[in-house]
Amino acid sequence: MKSPGCGAAAGATAADARREFGVLRRYHKPLIFLIAVGLSLTLIYRAAGPAIIPAGAGNPFNRTAGGPLDVVDLVSSSIFSFAISILCISHQENEGERLGRILKAAAMEDNTVILTTLNAAWASENSIVDVFLESFRLGNGTRWLLDHLVIVAFDKKAYTRCVAVHTHCFALSTEGVDFSGEEEFMSDGYLKMMWRRIDFLRLVLEKGHNFIFTDTDIMWFRNPLPRFFLDGDFQIACDQFNGNPFDRNNRPNGGFNYVKSNNRTISFYKFWYLSREKHPRYHDQDVLNMIKFDPLIEQIGLQMRFLSTAYFGGLCQPSRDFNVVCTMHANCCIGLHRKMDDLRVMLEDWKRYMAMPPAQKISNKASWSVPKNCR
Ligand SMILES: *[C@@H]1O[C@H](CO)[C@@H](O)[C@H](O)[C@H]1NC(C)=O
Ligand SMILES: *[C@@H]1O[C@H](CO)[C@@H](O)[C@H](O)[C@H]1NC(C)=O
Ligand SMILES: *[C@@H]1O[C@H](CO)[C@@H](O)[C@H](O)[C@H]1NC(C)=O
Repeated sequence: MKSPGCGAAAGATAADARREFGVLRRYHKPLIFLIAVGLSLTLIYRAAGPAIIPAGAGNPFNRTAGGPLDVVDLVSSSIFSFAISILCISHQENEGERLGRILKAAAMEDNTVILTTLNAAWASENSIVDVFLESFRLGNGTRWLLDHLVIVAFDKKAYTRCVAVHTHCFALSTEGVDFSGEEEFMSDGYLKMMWRRIDFLRLVLEKGHNFIFTDTDIMWFRNPLPRFFLDGDFQIACDQFNGNPFDRNNRPNGGFNYVKSNNRTISFYKFWYLSREKHPRYHDQDVLNMIKFDPLIEQIGLQMRFLSTAYFGGLCQPSRDFNVVCTMHANCCIGLHRKMDDLRVMLEDWKRYMAMPPAQKISNKASWSVPKNCR
């Protein structure tokens, strides 16, 4: 894992800057040592006499062509870039700590965090992320949950946007992969992004945090926590729910799940992630369907539960009762614009419901106008 380069601080807050400074302070001893070594090298070079520098080397410290001064300049510029690389390396080594700190700041009393992942395509203004955050504000008693939400940014644009609109942002990047575009469903980039997410969630569990993972195209209308099973390790929403939360024949949707941090879930996430090698070209949700009957799950002792669409609905199977719905997912919908349009419609439906007089609410008169664009 690697932070998105040392330059990724653009758009960061003062708190971020203080943290970066904290990194500097922590590593100042090795840094001073390195600079001392560099300086001694400089003296040795000087003692050894002039070296030949290739003309037009583009040395930014060039004052005169050739001669001992250039050697000093070259060496000092090397020390400089060396020091910068050391800082970058210490920054990278520190990513685990940075994640730990951000999760801790966002955690509820029982160490639960809410997580979502974001890339540039879903992060621009008036885009999915805005509608997502808006739902927490319009939902009934959901605003406080925003304090426990960490947005995991897959690229710099998503990170910058997160910092502008939200408190807890974490930059997660993958070497050599650009996740900033709108990934076509099931393209290589899409698959890599989905699998990166599974690996990241395992790390969160290892850090001792329970989590609710939510896709950003899910509207939050009520607090889901009271609807989770107390004895479930891994609880997942469904595209289609058959009425039995224990039945693995349900069609789970990886976009919304609640996972407790324990040895069983950590083993399960490792198993899930490793299973991608056995089933190449499938995404995490397909592979989950392939492994959900695996005897290893029994061996691990993982308690799996499937969440009812009555509370955790979506466009595939909408929640019928507005009086109990917690979340609504723009699943069964491919294409950013269609998704956006139907998410907005959902928010409007919810607002209309909230504005109803109590008697009308109780008589369950409200209904969804979706799927509309996602048909
Ligand atoms: C240094 O600068 C001079 C003039 O600015 C230029 O002619 C020369 O090629 C440069 N040398 C190097 C090593 O870049
Ligand atoms: C909103 O939450 C409050 C407090 O839990 C509850 O009394 C009220 O009935 C809820 N309203 C709706 C529309 O669910
Ligand atoms: C996993 O199991 C070990 C030994 O049984 C225990 O010490 C540890 O606390 C457990 N870790 C978690 C996260 O439950």
